[in-house]
Amino acid sequence: MQILLLAGWIMATFGWLRPIVAAINYLSAKPYSKRTLQWIHGVLFVCAGVVGLVGAAVFAIRLLSIETLAPSILETGYLICGVGLVGWWIADVVEWQRACRRSVDEECHLQRLSWKTALQHHPGASRLLGLPGNEVLMLEVAQRIIRCEGLPEVSSGLSIAHFSDVHFREGMPLEYFRAVFEELGRLRPDLYIFTGDLHDDPDCLRWVPELFGSLHAPLGCYFVLGNHDWQADHVNARIALEDAGWIDLAGRVLPLRDPSGEIVIAGTEFPWMGDLPPFASMPDNRFRILASHTPDLWRWAVDQHVHLMLAGHTHGGQCRLPILGPVFAPSVDGVRYAGGLYKKNSMYLHVSRGISGKDRLRFGCLPEITRFVLKCSPRTELTRPKAAEASHENGS
Ligand SMILES: [Fe+2]
Repeated sequence: MQILLLAGWIMATFGWLRPIVAAINYLSAKPYSKRTLQWIHGVLFVCAGVVGLVGAAVFAIRLLSIETLAPSILETGYLICGVGLVGWWIADVVEWQRACRRSVDEECHLQRLSWKTALQHHPGASRLLGLPGNEVLMLEVAQRIIRCEGLPEVSSGLSIAHFSDVHFREGMPLEYFRAVFEELGRLRPDLYIFTGDLHDDPDCLRWVPELFGSLHAPLGCYFVLGNHDWQADHVNARIALEDAGWIDLAGRVLPLRDPSGEIVIAGTEFPWMGDLPPFASMPDNRFRILASHTPDLWRWAVDQHVHLMLAGHTHGGQCRLPILGPVFAPSVDGVRYAGGLYKKNSMYLHVSRGISGKDRLRFGCLPEITRFVLKCSPRTELTRPKAAEASHENGS
Protein backbone atom coordinates (compact mmCIF):
# COMPACT_ATOMS: atom_id res chain seq x y z
CA MET A 1 0.00 0.00 0.00
CA GLN A 2 2.81 2.36 0.99
CA ILE A 3 4.63 1.58 -2.28
CA LEU A 4 1.48 2.34 -4.31
CA LEU A 5 1.05 5.61 -2.49
CA LEU A 6 4.65 6.58 -3.18
CA ALA A 7 4.27 5.69 -6.86
CA GLY A 8 1.10 7.81 -6.87
CA TRP A 9 3.02 10.78 -5.46
CA ILE A 10 5.65 10.55 -8.19
CA MET A 11 3.01 10.26 -10.92
CA ALA A 12 0.91 13.08 -9.48
CA THR A 13 3.92 15.43 -9.32
CA PHE A 14 4.76 14.60 -12.94
CA GLY A 15 1.10 15.14 -13.92
CA TRP A 16 0.89 18.56 -12.25
CA LEU A 17 3.81 19.76 -14.38
CA ARG A 18 1.73 19.27 -17.56
CA PRO A 19 -0.60 22.33 -17.22
CA ILE A 20 2.45 24.45 -16.35
CA VAL A 21 4.21 23.30 -19.54
CA ALA A 22 0.99 23.96 -21.52
CA ALA A 23 0.81 27.50 -20.08
CA ILE A 24 4.48 28.17 -20.97
CA ASN A 25 3.93 26.99 -24.57
CA TYR A 26 0.66 28.88 -25.03
CA LEU A 27 1.86 32.19 -23.55
CA SER A 28 5.19 32.00 -25.42
CA ALA A 29 3.21 32.08 -28.68
CA LYS A 30 1.75 35.49 -27.84
CA PRO A 31 3.32 38.79 -28.94
CA TYR A 32 4.50 39.84 -25.48
CA SER A 33 7.66 41.88 -25.06
CA LYS A 34 10.90 40.09 -24.19
CA ARG A 35 10.69 41.42 -20.62
CA THR A 36 7.08 40.30 -20.10
CA LEU A 37 7.89 36.84 -21.45
CA GLN A 38 10.87 36.60 -19.09
CA TRP A 39 8.52 37.38 -16.19
CA ILE A 40 5.93 34.86 -17.35
CA HIS A 41 8.58 32.16 -17.79
CA GLY A 42 10.09 33.01 -14.40
CA VAL A 43 6.74 32.73 -12.58
CA LEU A 44 5.81 29.48 -14.34
CA PHE A 45 9.22 27.89 -13.76
CA VAL A 46 8.94 28.82 -10.07
CA CYS A 47 5.48 27.14 -10.05
CA ALA A 48 7.04 24.05 -11.64
CA GLY A 49 9.82 24.12 -9.03
CA VAL A 50 7.32 24.41 -6.16
CA VAL A 51 5.26 21.50 -7.53
CA GLY A 52 8.42 19.41 -7.89
CA LEU A 53 9.69 20.31 -4.42
CA VAL A 54 6.35 19.67 -2.71
CA GLY A 55 6.13 16.30 -4.44
CA ALA A 56 9.72 15.41 -3.52
CA ALA A 57 9.27 16.57 0.09
CA VAL A 58 6.09 14.53 0.66
CA PHE A 59 7.72 11.58 -1.11
CA ALA A 60 10.75 11.84 1.22
CA ILE A 61 8.60 12.20 4.37
CA ARG A 62 6.57 9.12 3.49
CA LEU A 63 9.67 7.16 2.54
CA LEU A 64 11.36 7.94 5.86
CA SER A 65 8.30 7.58 8.10
CA ILE A 66 8.08 4.36 10.05
CA GLU A 67 4.30 4.38 10.35
CA THR A 68 1.92 4.27 7.41
CA LEU A 69 0.23 7.67 7.33
CA ALA A 70 -3.22 7.97 5.75
CA PRO A 71 -3.35 10.83 3.19
CA SER A 72 -5.38 13.92 4.11
CA ILE A 73 -8.27 15.18 1.90
CA LEU A 74 -5.89 17.75 0.37
CA GLU A 75 -3.31 15.09 -0.40
CA THR A 76 -5.97 12.80 -1.86
CA GLY A 77 -7.21 15.60 -4.15
CA TYR A 78 -3.63 16.40 -5.23
CA LEU A 79 -2.99 12.73 -5.94
CA ILE A 80 -6.19 12.06 -7.91
CA CYS A 81 -5.90 15.24 -10.03
CA GLY A 82 -2.17 14.76 -10.58
CA VAL A 83 -2.50 11.13 -11.67
CA GLY A 84 -5.38 12.20 -13.95
CA LEU A 85 -3.11 14.84 -15.53
CA VAL A 86 -0.60 12.11 -16.43
CA GLY A 87 -3.22 11.17 -19.03
CA TRP A 88 -2.50 14.52 -20.73
CA TRP A 89 1.19 13.55 -21.06
CA ILE A 90 0.20 10.13 -22.39
CA ALA A 91 -2.13 11.73 -24.97
CA ASP A 92 0.80 13.95 -26.05
CA VAL A 93 3.13 10.98 -26.46
CA VAL A 94 0.54 9.01 -28.44
CA GLU A 95 -0.08 12.03 -30.69
CA TRP A 96 3.67 12.61 -31.16
CA GLN A 97 4.40 8.97 -31.96
CA ARG A 98 1.50 8.93 -34.44
CA ALA A 99 2.80 12.12 -36.08
CA CYS A 100 6.29 10.55 -36.39
CA ARG A 101 4.89 7.42 -38.05
CA ARG A 102 2.47 9.31 -40.31
CA SER A 103 4.38 10.25 -43.44
CA VAL A 104 2.39 12.61 -45.61
CA ASP A 105 5.01 12.99 -48.32
CA GLU A 106 5.37 10.36 -50.96
CA GLU A 107 9.13 10.51 -51.26
CA CYS A 108 11.74 11.83 -48.87
CA HIS A 109 15.52 11.69 -48.98
CA LEU A 110 17.53 12.74 -45.94
CA GLN A 111 21.23 13.55 -45.70
CA ARG A 112 22.91 14.23 -42.36
CA LEU A 113 26.00 16.41 -42.08
CA SER A 114 28.14 17.40 -39.10
CA TRP A 115 30.78 20.06 -38.55
CA LYS A 116 30.94 19.46 -34.80
CA THR A 117 34.46 18.06 -34.67
CA ALA A 118 35.83 20.80 -36.88
CA LEU A 119 34.05 23.77 -35.25
CA GLN A 120 33.29 23.04 -31.57
CA HIS A 121 36.66 24.51 -30.47
CA HIS A 122 36.62 27.30 -33.02
CA PRO A 123 37.59 30.72 -31.59
CA GLY A 124 34.41 32.50 -30.44
CA ALA A 125 32.37 29.29 -30.32
CA SER A 126 30.33 28.75 -27.15
CA ARG A 127 31.52 25.86 -24.98
CA LEU A 128 27.95 24.51 -25.07
CA LEU A 129 28.50 23.47 -28.69
CA GLY A 130 30.89 20.70 -27.63
CA LEU A 131 28.49 19.08 -25.13
CA PRO A 132 28.02 15.36 -25.83
CA GLY A 133 24.86 14.85 -27.90
CA ASN A 134 24.47 18.53 -28.73
CA GLU A 135 23.44 18.67 -32.41
CA VAL A 136 23.78 22.43 -32.94
CA LEU A 137 26.68 22.12 -35.40
CA MET A 138 24.95 19.48 -37.49
CA LEU A 139 22.45 19.68 -40.37
CA GLU A 140 19.81 17.54 -42.02
CA VAL A 141 19.27 18.22 -45.71
CA ALA A 142 15.82 16.94 -46.67
CA GLN A 143 14.53 16.54 -50.21
CA ARG A 144 10.79 15.93 -50.34
CA ILE A 145 8.38 15.37 -53.20
CA ILE A 146 4.82 16.37 -52.42
CA ARG A 147 1.70 16.08 -54.55
CA CYS A 148 -0.30 19.26 -54.29
CA GLU A 149 -3.94 19.69 -55.14
CA GLY A 150 -4.54 22.83 -57.21
CA LEU A 151 -1.03 23.04 -58.70
CA PRO A 152 -1.17 24.00 -62.40
CA GLU A 153 0.06 21.11 -64.54
CA VAL A 154 2.64 23.27 -66.30
CA SER A 155 4.20 24.08 -62.90
CA SER A 156 4.60 20.45 -61.86
CA GLY A 157 8.21 20.03 -60.75
CA LEU A 158 8.49 23.49 -59.15
CA SER A 159 11.18 23.36 -56.46
CA ILE A 160 11.31 25.43 -53.27
CA ALA A 161 14.12 25.53 -50.72
CA HIS A 162 12.68 26.34 -47.31
CA PHE A 163 14.77 27.29 -44.28
CA SER A 164 14.09 29.17 -41.08
CA ASP A 165 15.40 30.49 -37.77
CA VAL A 166 19.08 31.08 -38.46
CA HIS A 167 19.36 33.19 -35.29
CA PHE A 168 22.67 34.88 -36.11
CA ARG A 169 24.44 35.68 -32.82
CA GLU A 170 27.85 35.62 -31.19
CA GLY A 171 28.87 32.25 -29.81
CA MET A 172 27.99 30.52 -33.08
CA PRO A 173 30.89 30.26 -35.53
CA LEU A 174 30.31 32.05 -38.82
CA GLU A 175 31.97 29.04 -40.49
CA TYR A 176 28.98 26.88 -39.54
CA PHE A 177 26.60 29.24 -41.33
CA ARG A 178 28.98 29.39 -44.31
CA ALA A 179 28.76 25.59 -44.57
CA VAL A 180 24.94 25.62 -44.23
CA PHE A 181 24.53 28.31 -46.89
CA GLU A 182 26.84 26.36 -49.18
CA GLU A 183 24.45 23.41 -48.81
CA LEU A 184 21.50 25.74 -49.48
CA GLY A 185 23.26 26.91 -52.66
CA ARG A 186 23.72 23.29 -53.79
CA LEU A 187 19.94 22.74 -53.65
CA ARG A 188 19.49 24.99 -56.72
CA PRO A 189 15.72 25.46 -56.30
CA ASP A 190 13.39 27.62 -58.37
CA LEU A 191 12.89 29.84 -55.32
CA TYR A 192 14.12 30.24 -51.75
CA ILE A 193 11.82 30.99 -48.84
CA PHE A 194 13.16 32.05 -45.43
CA THR A 195 10.57 32.16 -42.65
CA GLY A 196 12.18 34.44 -40.07
CA ASP A 197 14.27 34.80 -36.93
CA LEU A 198 17.30 36.10 -38.77
CA HIS A 199 19.19 37.28 -35.71
CA ASP A 200 19.38 37.88 -31.97
CA ASP A 201 22.33 40.23 -32.17
CA PRO A 202 22.24 43.31 -34.46
CA ASP A 203 26.08 43.15 -34.74
CA CYS A 204 25.70 39.88 -36.63
CA LEU A 205 23.62 41.51 -39.37
CA ARG A 206 27.04 42.09 -41.00
CA TRP A 207 26.92 38.38 -41.94
CA VAL A 208 23.80 38.86 -44.10
CA PRO A 209 25.41 40.23 -47.33
CA GLU A 210 27.87 37.34 -47.58
CA LEU A 211 25.48 34.54 -46.61
CA PHE A 212 22.07 35.55 -47.94
CA GLY A 213 23.70 37.41 -50.85
CA SER A 214 25.25 34.12 -51.99
CA LEU A 215 21.85 32.58 -52.80
CA HIS A 216 20.13 33.17 -56.14
CA ALA A 217 17.12 31.51 -57.73
CA PRO A 218 15.31 32.01 -61.06
CA LEU A 219 11.95 32.81 -59.40
CA GLY A 220 13.43 34.82 -56.54
CA CYS A 221 14.41 34.71 -52.86
CA TYR A 222 11.64 35.63 -50.39
CA PHE A 223 11.54 36.27 -46.66
CA VAL A 224 9.45 37.15 -43.66
CA LEU A 225 10.92 38.09 -40.28
CA GLY A 226 10.20 36.53 -36.90
CA ASN A 227 9.64 37.42 -33.26
CA HIS A 228 13.37 37.51 -32.45
CA ASP A 229 13.93 40.04 -35.24
CA TRP A 230 11.03 42.05 -33.79
CA GLN A 231 12.76 42.00 -30.39
CA ALA A 232 16.30 42.67 -31.68
CA ASP A 233 16.21 45.05 -34.68
CA HIS A 234 13.63 44.33 -37.37
CA VAL A 235 14.21 47.58 -39.26
CA ASN A 236 17.87 46.91 -40.05
CA ALA A 237 17.23 43.17 -40.49
CA ARG A 238 14.73 43.98 -43.24
CA ILE A 239 17.11 46.47 -44.87
CA ALA A 240 20.00 43.97 -44.76
CA LEU A 241 17.94 41.22 -46.43
CA GLU A 242 16.55 43.54 -49.11
CA ASP A 243 20.05 44.86 -49.83
CA ALA A 244 21.15 41.22 -50.29
CA GLY A 245 18.51 40.86 -53.03
CA TRP A 246 15.75 39.19 -50.99
CA ILE A 247 12.07 40.11 -51.46
CA ASP A 248 10.05 41.12 -48.40
CA LEU A 249 6.77 39.18 -48.28
CA ALA A 250 5.40 40.60 -45.04
CA GLY A 251 1.66 41.33 -45.42
CA ARG A 252 1.86 40.95 -49.21
CA VAL A 253 0.54 38.66 -51.92
CA LEU A 254 2.73 38.57 -55.03
CA PRO A 255 2.35 36.70 -58.32
CA LEU A 256 5.14 34.22 -58.95
CA ARG A 257 6.86 34.60 -62.31
CA ASP A 258 6.51 30.90 -63.11
CA PRO A 259 5.38 29.52 -66.52
CA SER A 260 1.73 29.08 -65.46
CA GLY A 261 1.28 32.59 -64.09
CA GLU A 262 -1.26 31.03 -61.71
CA ILE A 263 0.79 30.82 -58.52
CA VAL A 264 0.83 33.47 -55.82
CA ILE A 265 3.19 33.71 -52.88
CA ALA A 266 2.28 35.54 -49.67
CA GLY A 267 3.83 36.17 -46.30
CA THR A 268 3.04 37.31 -42.81
CA GLU A 269 4.86 38.22 -39.63
CA PHE A 270 1.61 38.31 -37.64
CA PRO A 271 1.09 38.47 -34.63
CA TRP A 272 4.36 40.34 -34.03
CA MET A 273 4.45 42.71 -36.99
CA GLY A 274 2.19 43.88 -39.82
CA ASP A 275 -0.97 42.35 -41.19
CA LEU A 276 -2.23 39.14 -42.70
CA PRO A 277 -1.76 39.03 -46.49
CA PRO A 278 -4.82 40.12 -48.53
CA PHE A 279 -5.51 36.91 -50.45
CA ALA A 280 -8.89 38.36 -51.51
CA SER A 281 -6.99 40.71 -53.86
CA MET A 282 -6.08 37.72 -56.06
CA PRO A 283 -8.40 35.44 -58.06
CA ASP A 284 -9.55 32.33 -56.16
CA ASN A 285 -8.20 29.85 -58.68
CA ARG A 286 -4.53 30.70 -58.06
CA PHE A 287 -2.28 28.19 -56.30
CA ARG A 288 -1.43 29.79 -52.95
CA ILE A 289 1.87 29.53 -51.08
CA LEU A 290 2.09 31.16 -47.63
CA ALA A 291 5.28 31.94 -45.67
CA SER A 292 4.54 32.56 -41.99
CA HIS A 293 6.94 32.66 -39.07
CA THR A 294 4.50 30.91 -36.76
CA PRO A 295 2.64 27.73 -37.65
CA ASP A 296 -0.24 28.90 -35.43
CA LEU A 297 -1.89 30.57 -38.42
CA TRP A 298 -2.63 27.22 -40.10
CA ARG A 299 -6.36 27.39 -39.30
CA TRP A 300 -6.57 30.81 -40.95
CA ALA A 301 -4.52 29.51 -43.90
CA VAL A 302 -6.93 26.60 -44.43
CA ASP A 303 -9.83 29.08 -44.48
CA GLN A 304 -7.93 31.13 -47.09
CA HIS A 305 -7.55 28.03 -49.31
CA VAL A 306 -3.76 28.08 -49.06
CA HIS A 307 -2.20 25.04 -50.73
CA LEU A 308 1.26 25.11 -49.15
CA MET A 309 2.15 26.84 -45.89
CA LEU A 310 5.79 27.11 -44.77
CA ALA A 311 6.61 28.07 -41.18
CA GLY A 312 9.31 27.89 -38.52
CA HIS A 313 9.47 29.38 -35.02
CA THR A 314 9.02 26.21 -32.95
CA HIS A 315 12.50 24.75 -33.70
CA GLY A 316 11.08 21.23 -33.57
CA GLY A 317 10.97 21.62 -29.80
CA GLN A 318 14.80 21.94 -29.92
CA CYS A 319 15.37 19.33 -27.18
CA ARG A 320 13.44 16.08 -27.56
CA LEU A 321 13.22 13.49 -24.83
CA PRO A 322 13.31 9.78 -25.60
CA ILE A 323 9.74 8.46 -26.15
CA LEU A 324 8.16 11.69 -24.82
CA GLY A 325 9.48 13.76 -27.77
CA PRO A 326 9.52 17.57 -27.58
CA VAL A 327 8.13 19.26 -24.47
CA PHE A 328 8.47 22.99 -25.11
CA ALA A 329 7.39 24.81 -28.29
CA PRO A 330 6.07 28.40 -28.46
CA SER A 331 2.74 27.55 -30.04
CA VAL A 332 -0.91 27.69 -29.03
CA ASP A 333 -0.98 24.04 -30.11
CA GLY A 334 1.96 23.17 -27.86
CA VAL A 335 4.27 20.63 -29.49
CA ARG A 336 1.64 19.21 -31.85
CA TYR A 337 3.10 21.10 -34.84
CA ALA A 338 6.61 21.54 -33.47
CA GLY A 339 8.31 20.33 -36.63
CA GLY A 340 7.53 18.24 -39.69
CA LEU A 341 5.22 17.97 -42.65
CA TYR A 342 1.49 17.90 -41.98
CA LYS A 343 -1.63 17.76 -44.15
CA LYS A 344 -4.61 19.89 -43.24
CA ASN A 345 -7.50 19.33 -45.65
CA SER A 346 -5.88 19.98 -49.04
CA MET A 347 -3.10 22.16 -47.54
CA TYR A 348 0.43 21.01 -46.77
CA LEU A 349 1.95 22.59 -43.67
CA HIS A 350 5.71 22.36 -43.30
CA VAL A 351 7.14 23.47 -39.97
CA SER A 352 10.91 23.69 -40.22
CA ARG A 353 13.04 22.76 -37.21
CA GLY A 354 15.16 25.74 -38.20
CA ILE A 355 18.92 26.05 -38.45
CA SER A 356 19.89 27.51 -35.11
CA GLY A 357 18.33 29.04 -31.99
CA LYS A 358 18.83 31.58 -29.26
CA ASP A 359 19.78 28.74 -26.91
CA ARG A 360 22.69 26.79 -28.36
CA LEU A 361 21.37 23.38 -27.40
CA ARG A 362 19.71 20.77 -29.58
CA PHE A 363 19.10 17.17 -28.63
CA GLY A 364 17.27 14.71 -30.87
CA CYS A 365 16.32 17.61 -33.13
CA LEU A 366 18.74 18.27 -35.98
CA PRO A 367 18.90 21.66 -37.69
CA GLU A 368 17.16 21.42 -41.04
CA ILE A 369 17.01 22.75 -44.58
CA THR A 370 14.42 21.35 -46.97
CA ARG A 371 14.01 21.27 -50.72
CA PHE A 372 10.47 20.59 -51.89
CA VAL A 373 9.54 19.43 -55.35
CA LEU A 374 5.86 20.11 -56.00
CA LYS A 375 4.06 17.70 -58.27
CA CYS A 376 0.47 17.79 -59.48
CA SER A 377 -1.95 15.72 -57.49
CA PRO A 378 -4.22 13.41 -59.51
CA ARG A 379 -7.08 15.18 -57.70
CA THR A 380 -6.00 18.60 -59.01
CA GLU A 381 -8.43 18.66 -61.91
CA LEU A 382 -11.29 17.63 -59.63
CA THR A 383 -10.59 20.16 -56.88
CA ARG A 384 -9.27 23.19 -58.74
CA PRO A 385 -11.83 25.62 -60.22
CA LYS A 386 -11.40 25.95 -63.95
CA ALA A 387 -9.67 29.18 -64.89
CA ALA A 388 -12.48 30.09 -67.26
CA GLU A 389 -15.14 29.57 -64.59
CA ALA A 390 -13.12 31.57 -62.07
CA SER A 391 -12.61 34.51 -64.41
CA HIS A 392 -16.34 34.42 -65.24
CA GLU A 393 -17.18 34.52 -61.54
CA ASN A 394 -14.83 37.46 -61.13
CA GLY A 395 -16.77 39.34 -63.79
CA SER A 396 -13.93 39.51 -66.34
FE1 LIG B 1 13.35 31.05 -33.73
